[in-house]
Amino acid sequence: MTDRMRLNLFTMNSVEHVSVGSWRLPGDQSHRYSDREYWTDVARTAERGGFDAVFFADVRGIYDVYSDDRETAVEKAVQTPSNDPAYLIPAMAEVTDDLGFAVTKSTSYNHPYQLAREFSTLDHLTDGRVAFNIVTSYLESAAANLGYDDRMDHDERYDRADEFMDVLYKLFEDSWDDDAVVRDRESGVFTDPEKVSAIDHEGEHFEIPGPHGAEPSPQRTPVLYQAGSSDRGREFAAEHAEAVFVSQPSVEAVEDYVADLRERAADHGRDPDSLAFFPGIVPIVGETEEVAEAKYDAYTDAIDTEGVLALLSGFVDMDLSDLDPDQKLEHIETEAIQGVVNAFTANDDRDWTVREVAEFAGLGTTSPVVVGTPEQVADEFQYWFEDVGVDGFNVKEVARPDSLRDFVDLVVPELRERGLLRDEYDGETLRETTFGRRGLPDGHPGSR
Ligand SMILES: Cc1cc2nc3c(=O)[nH]c(=O)nc-3n(C[C@H](O)[C@H](O)[C@H](O)COP(=O)(O)O)c2cc1C
Repeated sequence: MTDRMRLNLFTMNSVEHVSVGSWRLPGDQSHRYSDREYWTDVARTAERGGFDAVFFADVRGIYDVYSDDRETAVEKAVQTPSNDPAYLIPAMAEVTDDLGFAVTKSTSYNHPYQLAREFSTLDHLTDGRVAFNIVTSYLESAAANLGYDDRMDHDERYDRADEFMDVLYKLFEDSWDDDAVVRDRESGVFTDPEKVSAIDHEGEHFEIPGPHGAEPSPQRTPVLYQAGSSDRGREFAAEHAEAVFVSQPSVEAVEDYVADLRERAADHGRDPDSLAFFPGIVPIVGETEEVAEAKYDAYTDAIDTEGVLALLSGFVDMDLSDLDPDQKLEHIETEAIQGVVNAFTANDDRDWTVREVAEFAGLGTTSPVVVGTPEQVADEFQYWFEDVGVDGFNVKEVARPDSLRDFVDLVVPELRERGLLRDEYDGETLRETTFGRRGLPDGHPGSR
């Protein structure tokens, strides 16, 4: 789809995201996640590296599946404590001009009328630089804390998400005409009431008359990201996502996933090429191979295997403390994140033991780890971009913020030298800088 590589920094407003134990590395700054200046520095560095966006994962609930208690997760800072990412965005936008911000929000535990207002506000405040990573949430502990007896079933969560998106499109795209706000001091008309419509949504989960309370923001609908990989999750992504976060551990699995989603998008009446694909990747780079290897060794030593198992137990909703570490991981159908299970059990090329999964997943869960000089790391990025056909990457950090700085100082110049990465941003909104279009693509259900 693209002629140049897209980059997102994949991070979380918490101590640990997906490299559990890395907060112990010398000089690591993860503990400063609640410090505004940590994030404004991240924003400046990401923009210097031509990143499209900083992509914030987020979770509701606590990782209490492992050993059937929360002790490991709390002790080892497994995505707890964490703060809400949305509130960081205005501060990060203030110190940047073009960088975008993808915010993860759950369709299971938000109300669409309320979330539409929050995203419109962020889109106004950032001059159109916001994306919505649509998730359905997977932890049982979130349901309990948010007033539900049980977590909704996996596919039912996606049904609610479908209707949730339908409401958002009506609020963002249909409720206010472009020229509704007239601001005519003389006549005293700020907004022409004829140009603001109710949405009168009546569905299975929501009854929402509207209209939207916010006037149209630069992008109206934020850029839409999604990461589902179960059958139902893929259907949802094929219908709604503009960009998909791919989480598959082998090239073949990524190729199959991309082909499958493009086919499903076409079935939904969309241009299959309007969907962009971003695998996660963990670059570990040094000026020489020795330096890179030394970093890799230090990062691997810092992995907290028990913490990783606590994280994965939440991802797959299965207590991995029950299993013999040398036991092969069997395929299961989970009510949580099917894609993480599939990543380790649905490929023919390898059988993974529990111990191997914990060790591999310690540096970024299911994503490939690339270790080497700037040229070697750039080779790998180029290979995925040109030969495998992905559009960009969600770059995962291990040491914070050193991994990002290393990447921007060492790999970005090499990618630019090769003409793979832009030198300057083009376009005003995030959708323009990432996709070269102003609105949702034709054939998308939210397209006006
Ligand atoms: C790579 C990846 C990243 C994800 N990030 C988040 C996240 O930050 N927050 C969240 O609640 N869910 C996250 N999810 C969960 C998905 O959005 C989705 O709700 C879940 O995977 C269930 O769908 P599936 O079974 O189709 O994969 C992520 C999933 C994957 C595969």
